[in-house]
Amino acid sequence: MKRILTGIRTSGPLHLGHYIGALKTWVDLQHKDYECFFLLADIQALTTHADNPKLIQESVKDTVLDFLAAGLDPTKDNVNFVLQSAIPEISELTTYFTMVTPFAWVQKNPTIKEELKQLSKGATLGFMNYPVSQAADILMVSHDPKDSEEPVLVPVGDDQVPHIESTNHVSRAFNNTYGKTFGECKALVGDFGRLVGLDGNSKMSKSLNNCIYLKDEKEEVRKKIMSMYTDPKRIHPDDPGTVEGNPVFIYHDAFNEDKKEVEDLKKRYKEGTVGDVEVKEKLFDAIEKFLEPIRKRRKEFEGKDIMKYVADGTRKAQEIAIGNVDRARKAMGLDYPTIRQ
Ligand code: TRP
Repeated sequence: MKRILTGIRTSGPLHLGHYIGALKTWVDLQHKDYECFFLLADIQALTTHADNPKLIQESVKDTVLDFLAAGLDPTKDNVNFVLQSAIPEISELTTYFTMVTPFAWVQKNPTIKEELKQLSKGATLGFMNYPVSQAADILMVSHDPKDSEEPVLVPVGDDQVPHIESTNHVSRAFNNTYGKTFGECKALVGDFGRLVGLDGNSKMSKSLNNCIYLKDEKEEVRKKIMSMYTDPKRIHPDDPGTVEGNPVFIYHDAFNEDKKEVEDLKKRYKEGTVGDVEVKEKLFDAIEKFLEPIRKRRKEFEGKDIMKYVADGTRKAQEIAIGNVDRARKAMGLDYPTIRQ
C-alpha cells in the first residue's frame, strides 16, 4: 500500500491556516487507498519551545483533539496518529543522516532562512537540524527500495516544500554513500497552499498572533473577523475597493461555499456599493458554518481517552521504523549482532 506521512509541530492549537494548508487534504486522503501516518511533532516543537515543555505536552493533546474535530478518523485501519518522541528510531536515523548532510544545505533552505528571522533567541543546533530530523520522520516509513519504488507522499502547505526536497537530497546522499537503502518522497500541495493572516501578513501563524483557531468560540471569531485587515486605501463604503490580495476576500474564497454570494460581494466591493462591515458579516456566517461542526466534534471527544489512538498509531509506525533503522545500520557497518540484542 502507498504510504503517506505528514505532521504538525505541537506548539499550540491548530488554526484555519493549518486546515486550509494541510488538514483539509489529509481528511480527503484518509478515505483513499493509502496507509496514513499523521505525526505529532513534539520533538520538532522543542526546536523553538525547549523552555516550555508544558505547552508542548498540552499541545499534543490539543492537536489530537483538533485532528479528530477536523474529521481525521483513527478508528480506520489505515489511519495512524503518531507521537514523534515515542519513536527513538527517529532520533537514531536523524543522527545517521547528519553525517551525510552538508551544513550548507540547511543554511540555504528558504523556510529555515525565513524562520531564523522570526526567532526571538539565537538558533540552537537542534533548530538548525530540524530539516534533517524531518527527513528521518519521513524516511522512517520509506519502503525498502528492493520491494517498492513508491515514494512516501507528504501532503503539506507550500512552506514545507523545501523540507521535502531536502529529504530527497538526504536520502540520495545516504544511498550514494552506503548503497540503496531508502526511497524518496513527494510533496502534495493542495490548491490553497497557505492562508494569509488576519493582519494581511503572508502567513497565519501563532507567533504573529493573527490566527483564528479551530477551537475559538463564536464570539471570539466574530471579534477577530470584525477587526480584520481589508483594503487600507478604502475609507468610505462608497469608495471602490480592491479585492485582489484583500484577506477578507481570500477567506471568502477559501471558506464561503456560496460562490454566487462571493462573486456578488466582490463586484459590489469593486464598485463601492457594499461596506466592509457587510462583507465581514457574511464572512463570519460562512466561517461559523464551517467551524460549528468542528467545534461540536471537538466537544464530543473532550474527556474521552483519545490518547489510545496515539498509542496504537505510534506502535504501527515504529514497527516500520525499526526495520528501516536496522537496514540503515547494516548499510553503515553498525550491525554488531553479538553486542546489540
Ligand atoms: N515541519 C512541520 C510543521 O512545521 C511538521 C513536520 C514534522 C512534518 N515532521 C514532518 C511535516 C514530516 C511533514 C512531514 O508543522
